[in-house]
This record gives sequence, structure tokens and C-alpha cells, in this order.
Amino acid sequence: MSQHILTAVAWPYANGPRHIGHVSGFGVPSDVFSRYQRMAGNKVLMVSGTDEHGTPIQVQADKEGVTARELADRYNRVIAEDLTGLGLSYDLFTRTTTKNHYAVTQEIFKGLYDNGYIFPKTTMGAISPSTGRTLPDRYIEGTCPICGYDGARGDQCDNCGNQLDPIQLIHPKSRINGETPIFVETEHFMLDLPAFAEVLGSYLQSKQGEWRPNVLKFALNLLGDLQPRAISRDLDWGVPIPLDGWRDQPNKRLYVWFDAVIGYLSASIEWARRSGDPDAWRQWWQNPDARGYYFMGKDNIVFHAEIWPAMLLGYSGQGGRGGSPGSLGALNVPSEVVSSEFLTMEGKKFSSSRQVVIYVRDFLARYDADALRYYISVAGPENQDTDFTWQEFVNRNNGELVAAWGNLVNRSISMAAKNFGAIPEAGELTDADRALLERSRNAFGPVGAELNRSRFKNAITEAFDVVRDANRYLAEQEPWKLKDDTERQKSILHVALQVVDDAKTMLTPFLPGSSNKVHAMLGGEGVWSGMPEMHDVDEDGGTPYPVITGDYQGAAQWEHRQIKPGTPLAPPVPLFKKLDPKVVDEELARLAD
Ligand code: MF3
Ligand code: ZN
Repeated sequence: MSQHILTAVAWPYANGPRHIGHVSGFGVPSDVFSRYQRMAGNKVLMVSGTDEHGTPIQVQADKEGVTARELADRYNRVIAEDLTGLGLSYDLFTRTTTKNHYAVTQEIFKGLYDNGYIFPKTTMGAISPSTGRTLPDRYIEGTCPICGYDGARGDQCDNCGNQLDPIQLIHPKSRINGETPIFVETEHFMLDLPAFAEVLGSYLQSKQGEWRPNVLKFALNLLGDLQPRAISRDLDWGVPIPLDGWRDQPNKRLYVWFDAVIGYLSASIEWARRSGDPDAWRQWWQNPDARGYYFMGKDNIVFHAEIWPAMLLGYSGQGGRGGSPGSLGALNVPSEVVSSEFLTMEGKKFSSSRQVVIYVRDFLARYDADALRYYISVAGPENQDTDFTWQEFVNRNNGELVAAWGNLVNRSISMAAKNFGAIPEAGELTDADRALLERSRNAFGPVGAELNRSRFKNAITEAFDVVRDANRYLAEQEPWKLKDDTERQKSILHVALQVVDDAKTMLTPFLPGSSNKVHAMLGGEGVWSGMPEMHDVDEDGGTPYPVITGDYQGAAQWEHRQIKPGTPLAPPVPLFKKLDPKVVDEELARLAD
């Protein structure tokens, strides 16, 4: 049965190019998942965009001496290029500075406000005594009042995961210049999270056994301390508050996280409008059978497993205070929050300022997208913090991609092309032939099941086991020695090519670029698995901005296809680049010591 599947991918901040740590969390996993779901016959809507408001953008803009808007324009384009280069198959990758996003964000605010889930409150805001300017929460550091960790930030403690207000910190100081902030009265809007305690509790409990255990545990833990949460800021860069007396205040804006999570919905609405059917988004947001999967790094869990579900439930009139759905109608909560852990780089935390980083663009200038996609899928931070090392990258590239998969493709296609020029017919099959064919065909079920549960490491490992078995089969059958027995040679190569075709299909979600090449080498026609494209659009005559879209409805289906004897074969081109071991030292030299 075909299902509507929303793949909601975390929105990268438009404050710099993306590095491989970022894309190992939200990027590659969400694309592998979406490509699999499309192949399995589901209707996927994969949306995201750049997250362009708030202090992360303002602070970087100040550093670079440009306005927040200029900074966002610059990095929106850079990031869209990075993600396109990785082959991430967004149905729409847009940005949070569109009119549509502002309108949808304000609508959600109003719905929550009308249902009584948002209330104003006078709070104490931090000011820098030397500049007189508001000091953003995340630029204040101190000791966590809950767990005692001494590197807690004003917005949250990374040690215990709790949300904080800067004034709760013990010994607060500015991370910008070390001074102690002063606190003054300021009025803000609060999201009444305690009103969702019960409904969030049963929501999360119902996910036992389904979500990754560490994600669920983290989310359940947050329920112990639900506090009203400020959703506005003293800042001039963001979405205005849509209430009389507030709308025109130049220094009050919605909190960046409040507007960013709404991006999933606004991007779906923008996608529907661009597709020519403005109501099409409803199939993914209102249909009770639709499923929504949210992909991110673990520092985003609180916003997706707690705050966003609360916003959706409140807007739909389903929190503790009841209410009625806003004008968009009741909206679906996430089916699953699929969070990755962190990737480190050669044993250190990624840091652009300290040069412990490899940007996606630099990576793609030197290596293929599929080489990175493979590494992240097989050795990424799926369940635990994981270290990227250049040595492991080169080892896996040369030992697994090149020596196992590339070699299987190459030797089987080139031998068949050279000897027969086409896919040979199989004669009588031996037990070994049948065993391999069956083994390969039977892998679709289990590999697909793992992909469906976002267990990517298991999935790619099982698919690679088929590749290894096929290599072992060739080593045993030695078709290159059978010059005098072309009938047997044909059978062996037929079997090998069939398994190459199966493996190419199973590896498509992970390695779409190379699977497309294998499809062509095996004489396949047309597009196998579609690739994203970037192009400029504008809104009501505004400045053009880039979006990523694509037609991903290629021939690829999650099933074994019988290869057709007689299909012409051309001598193959190498599928992957073998890397010189010197690469390791060269790359390490680029990292500051
Ligand atoms: N910009 C945030 C980050 O990089 C992620 C935002 S995800 C969204 O951590 F849901 F808010 F969009
Ligand atoms: Zn803490």
C-alpha cells in the first residue's frame, strides 16, 4: 500500500558553509531514507531550507561586517550548492526569509495564541553593560542550576539537555567578552509547555520500541521539567509578532527556533503552490495515514520531540487547554524523530575557527559524493558519537567501495562485454548459481526492512554482504579460466550480472550516482534514480533565490528485476576512484595541529 511520507530535514543555519559533521546528522540519512521510500512505492515529500533568523545569523553577520540579510543571502546559496552536490533529493529546499514562511509562522502563532497556549510575561533579559545591547541567550555561559555543569549556555545545558533561561545560570558571563551581564525587565511571549505535559507524555510513550532508544530516552527525560518557554526575543532580525501593538515594534521578533520548525510546514505549502496544486501539502499533514520522519543531529531533539509537537498539538486544539484548529486545520505530529549522534574529526570537535573542519564543498572538490555518502552510511554517528578519520575514509574507500563493489561491477561487466558484447544467456544452473541468485534476491526484504526503520548501517552492511558473496562466487567459479567452455562461462557471467543488477538496486539509496552508472553500463535506458537540481525562483517580483527541487521518479524500484540476455554491454568505466594512501597525510596537514 502506498503511503504519504514526509521527510522533514533539519534546516541548516545560513551562517557558513556546511561541514561533513552537519551532513552526517541531517543530510545523508534523510536522503537514503527518502530514496528508499520512493523506490518502495511511497509518495515522499522531502522538505527543508536554510534557517536564516536569530542570533546565530546576527552574530556571524556582525563578525563579517555585513547585514544579517546579506549574510543569509550568501550562505543560502552556498549551502544549497553543498547539498545539491551531495545528491540530496529535496522536493523543495527553500529558506525562512520568504513571505510564505512569514505568513505561515504568524498563522501558527495566532492559532496557538487564540487557543490560549501563548501568553505574555515580563521577564529579565540580559544586557551587555559595555555596549548596552541585548546579549543573546546562547552567548551567556555559566553553571547549570540543575546538574552543576559549568559550561551551560543561557538557552540550554548540553550536559543534561534541559532548557534554561540565562538568569538561572550560576555565575553568568558573556561568551563574547567575558563580562557579567546585567538583567533588565523585558516583555516576552511564552509557549505554555506545561499545558502539554500529559499529551506529550502519552505521545512519547507510544513510541517505545519504535524510535531509536537514545532519542526516546532523551525526549522522555525532558518531560520531567516542562517550563513555559520564551518564544520571542529582543532582536530586530526575525519574524514580527502578529499582534496589534507588537507587529511594528522594531526590536521584538519571534525566537528563531519557533519559526524554523514551522519551516517544515511552510516549505510543504510552498512546494504545493509551485507544483500547481496548492492543497497538495494536506496529504502529508492531515491525512491520518501519512507518516512524518524528522532527521537531525542530537542537539535538535528537544525542538523536534517536545516543542514542535506541542506547537502542532496546540494549533490543532489538542493540548491540555483544548481549543479548535486554526485556519489551516489540524496538523499531524512527527511519527518519528530520527536523530544522529555527533561526528568528531580526528578525535576533536568540529570547529571552523580552529580549522578542525572539512567543508562539504572542499570534500566534493577532491572526492566523489558517493564516497562520502558511503562512509557516513556505514561508519557515521547513527547510534553513538563517532570519529571521522582520513585513514578510515581511505581504507573504506579503497577496501570496500573500490575493491569489493567496484571490482565486482568491473570484472563481471568487462568480461561479459569483451567475450559476448551483451548480457549472456544462462544455460543449466548449478547449485552454486542458484544459491547465489536466491541469496541476492532474498536480500531485498531484510535490507528494505532495515532502511524502513532508519537502521542504515545494518542495511548497507547486509547489501554489501551480497557483494562479498558474489566476489567469492567469482573467485570459486573462475570464469576467466573457461575459454573452452563458453556455455558455462556464459552462465556464470549471467549469474554475476544478475547479482550486480540486484546489488545496484539495493545500493541506490546510498550510492545513487554510482548506481546510475551501473544502470547505464548494464544497458539500462532512461533515468534510474533522479538527481537534485538548483535553480532560481522569486516571490512576487522579489530578489531571486535558489531552491533545490528535482524529478526523482526514475525507473528505480525496490525489487529484483530480471536482466535481459542480449542487452548490449559497453566496456565499463571505473566506478570509484582508488585513493593514494598519501591522501591521509595531505589531509591531516590541512588540519591545524
Ligand atoms: N538551524 C538549526 C541547527 O542547525 C536546525 C533547525 S531545524 C528546524 O541546529 F527544525 F528548526 F528547522
Ligand atoms: Zn545541566
